[in-house]
Parts: sequence; C-alpha cells; structure tokens
Amino acid sequence: MIQFTVEDRDGTRQTLEIPEGINLSLMEVLKASEYNILATCGGLALCATCHVQVLAGLDALAPAQDAELDMLDTLPDADSDSRLACQLRVDERLEGGLFRIRGAEQ
Ligand code: FES
Repeated sequence: MIQFTVEDRDGTRQTLEIPEGINLSLMEVLKASEYNILATCGGLALCATCHVQVLAGLDALAPAQDAELDMLDTLPDADSDSRLACQLRVDERLEGGLFRIRGAEQ
C-alpha cells in the first residue's frame, strides 16, 4: 500500500492508503475519495483546478513537465511547492507525502 496524507481546504487531514499499481493520477484518486476537485480539463494540465501544494515529499516526486509548469505559471496563488494533481501518478514516490488541496471549488 502507498500511504500519503491529504489536507482539505478547511485544514482537515486524512491519510489515504492506495494499493500499489493502480495506475491512476492523484487527481483521480482525490475525486474517487470524495474530495471536491473540479478537474474541468479531465487531467490535461489545462485547467489547474487540481492544484495542490506539496507540504511534504516534494523532492521525491517526478519533476513537472513543461505543460504543468506553464499552467502553474498562470496561477496567482502558485508556490514553489505547487503541483497539478492530475500530473502526479500514484506510486511509491507519493509515499509519506502531504498534499494540501488548493484548486478552485465547485
Ligand atoms: S485536471 Fe485540469 S489541470 Fe489537472
């Protein structure tokens, strides 16, 4: 199992346990876990509504590609620890991470 923690907009934290090898993005797992994530673009790095701040475990993640970096650049509230959840695969690199949901609400 892969374990990581999610902090919702109200500060509530919950640890998720996800089976290895499920081949989903963090955005898809968050939506499946009933988090309020719009994901308007369906995971194409075009809407930024899946914006998360990585409070722990940032260095372990795969580096952001150009499309993600370009989209993060357009966000006024993005920080150096910001990522798009749709561009992160849920695998062992997320183990022990802490992700704060930042994207726009529905
Ligand atoms: S779902 Fe649109 S940028 Fe991630």
